[in-house]
Amino acid sequence: MDRILAFLFIITKLLLFLFKFSTALDSISPSAFLIDGKTLVSDKGTFELGFFSPGISKKSYLGIWYKNIPDRTIVWVANRLNPINDSSGLLKVANCSDLVLLSNSTNTVVWSSNSTKKAKSPLWQLLDSGNLVLRDKDDGSSGFLWQSFDYPCDTMLPGMKIGWDLRAGLDRRLSSWKSSDDPSPGDFKMGLEQESNPEVVAWKGSKKQYRSGPWNGVGFSGSTEFMPNPVFDFTFVSNNVEVYYTFNLKSESTVITRSVLNHTTYDRQCYTWNEEAQTWELQVSVPRDRCDNYGLCGANANCIFNATPVCQCLETFKPKSPEEWNNMDWSQGCVRNKELDCQKGDGFIKFDGLKLPDATHSWVNKDMNLQECKAKCLVNCSCMAYSNLDIRGGGSGCANWFGDLMDIRLVPGGGQELYIRMHASEIGDREAKAKMKIAAIATAAFVFILGILTISYHILKEKAKFAENDWENDKNNGGQREDMELPLFAFSAIADATNNFSVNNKLGEGGFGPVYRGKLEDGQEIAVKRLSRRSGQGFNEFKNEVILINKLQHRNLVKLLGCCSQREEKMLIYEYMPNRSLDSFIFDETKGRLLDWSRRFNIISGIARGLLYLHQDSRLRIIHRDLKASNVLLDDHMNPKISDFGLARMFVADQTEGDTSRVVGTYGYMAPEYATDGLFSVKSDVFSFGVLLLEIISGKKSKGFYHPDHSLSLIGHTWRLWNEGDASELIDALRDESCNPSEVLRCVHISLLCVQQHPDDRPSMASVVWMLGGDSALPNPKEPAFLNDRGPLESSSSSNKVGLSSTNEITVSVLEPR
Ligand SMILES: *[C@@H]1O[C@H](CO)[C@@H](O)[C@H](O)[C@H]1NC(C)=O
Ligand SMILES: *[C@@H]1O[C@H](CO)[C@@H](O)[C@H](O)[C@H]1NC(C)=O
Ligand SMILES: *[C@@H]1O[C@H](CO)[C@@H](O)[C@H](O)[C@H]1NC(C)=O
Ligand SMILES: *[C@@H]1O[C@H](CO)[C@@H](O)[C@H](O)[C@H]1NC(C)=O
Ligand SMILES: *[C@@H]1O[C@H](CO)[C@@H](O)[C@H](O)[C@H]1NC(C)=O
Ligand SMILES: *[C@@H]1O[C@H](CO)[C@@H](O)[C@H](O)[C@H]1NC(C)=O
Repeated sequence: MDRILAFLFIITKLLLFLFKFSTALDSISPSAFLIDGKTLVSDKGTFELGFFSPGISKKSYLGIWYKNIPDRTIVWVANRLNPINDSSGLLKVANCSDLVLLSNSTNTVVWSSNSTKKAKSPLWQLLDSGNLVLRDKDDGSSGFLWQSFDYPCDTMLPGMKIGWDLRAGLDRRLSSWKSSDDPSPGDFKMGLEQESNPEVVAWKGSKKQYRSGPWNGVGFSGSTEFMPNPVFDFTFVSNNVEVYYTFNLKSESTVITRSVLNHTTYDRQCYTWNEEAQTWELQVSVPRDRCDNYGLCGANANCIFNATPVCQCLETFKPKSPEEWNNMDWSQGCVRNKELDCQKGDGFIKFDGLKLPDATHSWVNKDMNLQECKAKCLVNCSCMAYSNLDIRGGGSGCANWFGDLMDIRLVPGGGQELYIRMHASEIGDREAKAKMKIAAIATAAFVFILGILTISYHILKEKAKFAENDWENDKNNGGQREDMELPLFAFSAIADATNNFSVNNKLGEGGFGPVYRGKLEDGQEIAVKRLSRRSGQGFNEFKNEVILINKLQHRNLVKLLGCCSQREEKMLIYEYMPNRSLDSFIFDETKGRLLDWSRRFNIISGIARGLLYLHQDSRLRIIHRDLKASNVLLDDHMNPKISDFGLARMFVADQTEGDTSRVVGTYGYMAPEYATDGLFSVKSDVFSFGVLLLEIISGKKSKGFYHPDHSLSLIGHTWRLWNEGDASELIDALRDESCNPSEVLRCVHISLLCVQQHPDDRPSMASVVWMLGGDSALPNPKEPAFLNDRGPLESSSSSNKVGLSSTNEITVSVLEPR
């Protein structure tokens, strides 16, 4: 009997022992501690708390992550600012109820919860929501004395509040990690701006990057992603003690979701876990588009995402600086056409579908109705706009805005009504217009009859008069002449300037037509590009393109002086470049000596910057498609200026995608995917740039390159020398003692990266500019395209281009069947 009892006793002990170690703990009590290598797991096994080292960092942090998601996703870090240098981390309850993180090797406190409320018998517990909480075991209430949700890092989990607790003095904000190896707070933050009309704001450094628009009872006026939906409930609370927003999963939902500030893209991203694919799926990313960027359009303007340009002055406002506005720099915003006259009594115009303006200078009252709100705004001369606070149930509450109205946008499928103050006469105009509409309908019959008479009269008159200038006609027809800051030249003036397009004045024949040198009456020298007629473009398309091209302004782009469109002729007038084009230097033995290496390098850098601007910085994203030595002009100081940019657009104006049936380009410079499939992208320009770079270094033309020892192309020749370690042979061609061999080799290296076969392998122009400017290690180039020939088109078309093929000037325009 004794034996049996003893046996049972041992078994029970063993079972208890096993039980204790097979179920992980979810809490830590004053007598226990947690060391590096051990973890706490929440009751249902959703979250885990323990030590981790992010990315390549060797330092140790205490954090919380999803237990069952293989790719460890950290949602909270305790000691963000104060890592432990080794694996001696020790977590314990100390000083009554504080949770304290120590480095046991140095015996220093790295982090402490500093809970102001103390518990008699403290229990620290990790909940299935991902919240680490302190509660008092003796106190039956469910309140927490401390919770990690009050100290968010970069991740917002369901149930977490972002915003203010005024009693506890908490401002809960999200802040991104510094990098994937460093969880300390980066410069991207998001929280609630505590103003009279609170809203969610994201800051990049100290600058506002995004705002959600104020809460309107249903959602934030500017962000449709917070609107009610089947998965989440959004709550916004604003009273004397707290101002916060939060989201919760609806009870039936089992989605695993998190919202995180991304430290690389500066977006707030909302992810959900896809169990099947075992990946995080991106659901929403804010800012959603350019219009979400704070203040893109400046004051008193509306950002309309699918309009061109995206920024539009509000009705009855005009650009403060028309010049900069037309250059698509909208930062100065708009001013009133007509100053307000508070004494005479102003009125309001209603706008709909807007994200309400920045509420920094605003005033609110929850009890007023819209009529009272209007009256309130009207009596204060600096009140610029008003709206309802809450749009539910027909609207209630009042918000007034003072001063300039900032960061308005049109919200597709959302937004709300805003009443903006106007000078009385402008309201009159608007109402008058509406009345006129009615009158117009009423008198339609009369006008119709009158119209017929008028039209007949005009037809007779027009026939008599030769259309002097399309542009003038357009103006008379109500075209928007005013947005065109570009001088128009009369055909006769250009004809005079170029000696009636005399052969002696011809500078060359470019891809889109001949170029003439000319001298205007005032003595200014110009270059005139007479566009060939095959573009088949109408006048309006031409006008639009010229306006676009004129907006491209950069030190390394040729400046457009004006244009002329008359009698079926379309011409572009540029500044004249006395040093002509780059090809006249680099391929000429005598003139080539004028370009020492430092000049050549300056030219290379300039072309790269100009191209980068076209690709990326100009807001239009122009792909040149015909970059070559003869399209790079040189000014007095041998600074390079790219020409013919934007013209490819005109000639294939109907192409919006990177796939064209018409190939515009030049043999020897064309990227393989463009030459064979008509696929173009910024990377096909990068290819052309790479070829041009080789030409500038070697002084040899890519087209018609010939070497006595082999039949390789210029690219193939360079590739061969590179692999044989003889690339310095190319330097000899420079015959320049002063050159810096490592710089030249670096350029050869960059050019080989640019001419790689696959577009994806080629660097972007931004990388090229960066590589040219720095001296960091470069990746190894893969085998380039066109080792043996200069492009697949050449052999087939060279027969009919005999005689021209030596000029390196032919631009191909081939129509290929789709
Ligand atoms: C870790 O190392 C850094 C730099 O050596 C030091 O400043 C810091 O105090 C150390 N931290 C701990 C917890 O020992
Ligand atoms: C212990 O708590 C007291 C008051 O709550 C605080 O002043 C003190 O700094 C704490 N000590 C440690 C080591 O955290
Ligand atoms: C902390 O360090 C001391 C001295 O090195 C050691 O005796 C003790 O076991 C360590 N404690 C833990 C929990 O590792
Ligand atoms: C706790 O208090 C210490 C000293 O007062 C402070 O350095 C530390 O940042 C506080 N920790 C937290 C989590 O607030
Ligand atoms: C940031 O966003 C990019 C693009 O969506 C994504 O590839 C990357 O993984 C994100 N980084 C983090 C830390 O979530
Ligand atoms: C108008 O409103 C502003 C902002 O609330 C306030 O500073 C100013 O005193 C008001 N002016 C008048 C005349 O009420």
